Amino acid sequence: MEYKVGVISGDGIGPEIVTEAKKVLDQIGKTYGHVFRYEEILMGGCSIDATGEPLTDAAIASAKASDAVLMGSIGGNTSTSPWYQLPPEKRPEAGLLKLRKALNLFANLRPAYLYEELKAACPLRDDIIGDGFDMMIMRELTGGLYFGARKTEEVDGVLTATDTLTYNENEIRRIAKRGFDIAMKRRKKVTSVDKANVLDSSRLWRKIVEEVAQDYPEVTYEHMLVDNCAMQLVKDPKQFDVILTENMFGDILSDEASMVTGSIGMLSSASLNDTKFGLYEPSGGSAPDIAGKGIANPIATILSAAMMLRYSFDLDREADVVEQAVKQVLQDGYRTIDIMPQEKPQEKVTQVGTAQMGDLICERIR
Ligand code: NAD
Ligand code: IPM
Ligand code: MN
Repeated sequence: MEYKVGVISGDGIGPEIVTEAKKVLDQIGKTYGHVFRYEEILMGGCSIDATGEPLTDAAIASAKASDAVLMGSIGGNTSTSPWYQLPPEKRPEAGLLKLRKALNLFANLRPAYLYEELKAACPLRDDIIGDGFDMMIMRELTGGLYFGARKTEEVDGVLTATDTLTYNENEIRRIAKRGFDIAMKRRKKVTSVDKANVLDSSRLWRKIVEEVAQDYPEVTYEHMLVDNCAMQLVKDPKQFDVILTENMFGDILSDEASMVTGSIGMLSSASLNDTKFGLYEPSGGSAPDIAGKGIANPIATILSAAMMLRYSFDLDREADVVEQAVKQVLQDGYRTIDIMPQEKPQEKVTQVGTAQMGDLICERIR
């Protein structure tokens, strides 16, 4: 079969990690007789430099015409890059938000899983790690603070900035259903995370999640306040199966969850709508501090490509093979710098760069 894959390489480490994911897809293509046809789509800082816009209408049209989109990361150093002198809607991140909205990608799945082989890269104590952890962060992606009205103005001579956080019941219901559906295929537990002790939007969130839960009698569910959840993720991450939460809480908690699995460089993600289409990207950013050095971890992007095979193309066997190849490479002792053992190496490992890691994973796809 032939698949049309839109590719957003983006900024910083984006092109480096996307190259490795394409390498892996091509190896899968060669092994199993598929063709992945790539079409580069400009988004983020590189698009600003080329067109003056972080995402053009033509770029949105190309994304829509693809079977799925593979993305690296966008953005620059938010303190020093000239992109951040531009008005908010012209900055790199505005392109990503516009694309998520245009494609109605309301469900963001971020699987945080601690590989047995990466226990030494996990900053938590051995007694907390135990047999490891495996959770799915289900983040609402097209509502909340990111998409509410915002303005900066002078009120009585005082500079005042406003962001608004709005959710309607339909937006909450559809993500909650996705969360419970996913839980049914996992360990059947949902932790819905909110700030219902303060926010109206969270109180509505809780009410609707409560309603949706009635349709899933087999799923155990609980509500947890977001500040407590941030703490519990470090105290006892084993307790979590599916974490269901709104846009900004999900952004923050997923970075935290990534670190307990070793590194942000391991956390893949899929942004889905009601069709087979999806946008697949690592959860981390453009990492300006290491861009161009050839040391970024490409595994999150490669695992995102595996999610693309599974969710958009129904190629479950091929997705399994990619995931198995990643596991094998870790078992064989290869690590990028971000997942090197934290303390004196208890095990024999070899540090490799971005391209080498991609090659090693390809070699394990047969
Ligand atoms: P970041 O995720 O880019 O980097 C945070 C830290 O994690 C850095 O030390 C970086 O080197 C490290 N890191 C990230 N990915 C890594 C990888 N694959 N391998 C090894 N180390 C990795 O976050 P930031 O520095 O806060 O943001 C930088 C820029 O990225 C900002 O412009 C931000 O808006 C953007 N951003 C984009 C996305 C995206 O495109 N989806 C996501 C997050 C941040
Ligand atoms: C992510 C990123 C984005 C977000 C930024 C770049 C807009 O941090 O995908 O996690 O906050 O959603
Ligand atoms: Mn983020």
